[in-house]
Amino acid sequence: MARRAAAKPWAGRFAETTDESLEKLSASVQFDQRLALFDLEGSRAHARMLGAVGLVTRAESRLMVKGLEELKTRVAGGLFQWDPKLEDVHMNLERALVELIGPAGEKLHTARSRNDQVALDTRLYLKAAAGRLGYGLRDLRSALVEKAASVKYAPMPGYTHLQRAQPVLVAHHLLAYYQMLSRDQERLEDLGRRLDSMPLGSGALAGTSLPIDPALVAADLGFSRLAENSLDAVASRDHLLEFLAFGAITLTNLSRLAEDLVLWCSQEFAFAELPDALTTGSSMMPQKKNPDGAELMRGKAGRAIGNLMALLAVVKGLPLSYNRDLQEDKEPIFDTADTLDMLLPVAAKMVRGLKFNLERLREAADDPFASATDLAELLVRRGVPFREAHRQAGAAVAYALKVKKNLADLTPEELNRFCPEAPAGVFAELTLEARLAARSTFGGPAPRSVARQLRAARQRLARETGRNGGPG
Ligand code: ARG
Repeated sequence: MARRAAAKPWAGRFAETTDESLEKLSASVQFDQRLALFDLEGSRAHARMLGAVGLVTRAESRLMVKGLEELKTRVAGGLFQWDPKLEDVHMNLERALVELIGPAGEKLHTARSRNDQVALDTRLYLKAAAGRLGYGLRDLRSALVEKAASVKYAPMPGYTHLQRAQPVLVAHHLLAYYQMLSRDQERLEDLGRRLDSMPLGSGALAGTSLPIDPALVAADLGFSRLAENSLDAVASRDHLLEFLAFGAITLTNLSRLAEDLVLWCSQEFAFAELPDALTTGSSMMPQKKNPDGAELMRGKAGRAIGNLMALLAVVKGLPLSYNRDLQEDKEPIFDTADTLDMLLPVAAKMVRGLKFNLERLREAADDPFASATDLAELLVRRGVPFREAHRQAGAAVAYALKVKKNLADLTPEELNRFCPEAPAGVFAELTLEARLAARSTFGGPAPRSVARQLRAARQRLARETGRNGGPG
């Protein structure tokens, strides 16, 4: 330990050893060790390139690659001993390589800085995370589409201001979330283009005078572009911000789905029930079945929003190029990725396991007052200007409420007092099914429109699955 501490890789110009208090503040290995496998992958590509351009001999390059492989095995097996005195994942792994293969290991960091190294590592980490999360998100979207298909034409009340507004289909409601999450998926995919730029070779900030070939490293690691500006490459974190924004928006969307689930599963709504396996009990009240999973899904949005704000605040106002503040970029991205990794499968299971009480939903959708808009639109068809029709229907509603009758139960005489153009027996025409079928505008709740939405969603998922793999 003491020997290591006295010999930090950068110790050359220092007369004193690092104060313990700073050492503690400076150390990031307790969290950035999560980058280890990406760091080793980057180092392997770098070592190969050093051999190819002749900055190290072929034999040295091979030795480094072999040593890095051995370290990979140790890290993957949880056998690597991380030393906080060596600050971060990069210096820990480099030191271990030197201990493992001797002097050739001292050449690994040729033409490289931790600044371009960490920029590479977080890109590799996010590429992997984006692939994984993309898969999870697509599965959740598939779950919504399957569920929508399974309840195809069942009606439910649609709400604005959490007041019954107009009837819709359960499928229509579920597909609204499919649409929201599809945009999240697009945001994630779009981020891939920004991640696809290889920063190694940018050095500390100003490249290197040594004859490196970053294109070899890029090809080795599967990047299609090189970072075009070394200052930008080591200083910028907007791709991380974009990931955090994606996470914050996705979790915000999920929190709205969660809130609907919580409402639907309440006794007051009684629209749906979650499976026992996806709910929890109360330690005191034996009768309770609580939607804790959905509540956590709602609550987790808070930390994702916080992570985005945290990194925005760190980056804001930093001069070019690298500043150590940027070390603070890692915990937020790990946390947002972990949160989504944990949540997406639970959300998909909740959607798949949800049991709707279709009878109750139909009853609620058939609220007699929810046909007031249809009455007004019927009057419009008979030539009444919409504002006038709205007033007339509103007056009929007020009267019905006053005499404690349902709108549909007004006699033709009563109705005609307010709506002279309303034909006799109008409410017999305005059945729930008829009202739903009539809203067949593009994107509307009519069975015809919802069937079209479902078709489009399925086709899109099949296309995406063909392109990216994963459940469809
Ligand atoms: N642990 C550092 C980080 O995460 C690596 C780069 C350190 N660079 C430096 N010049 N001290 O940002």
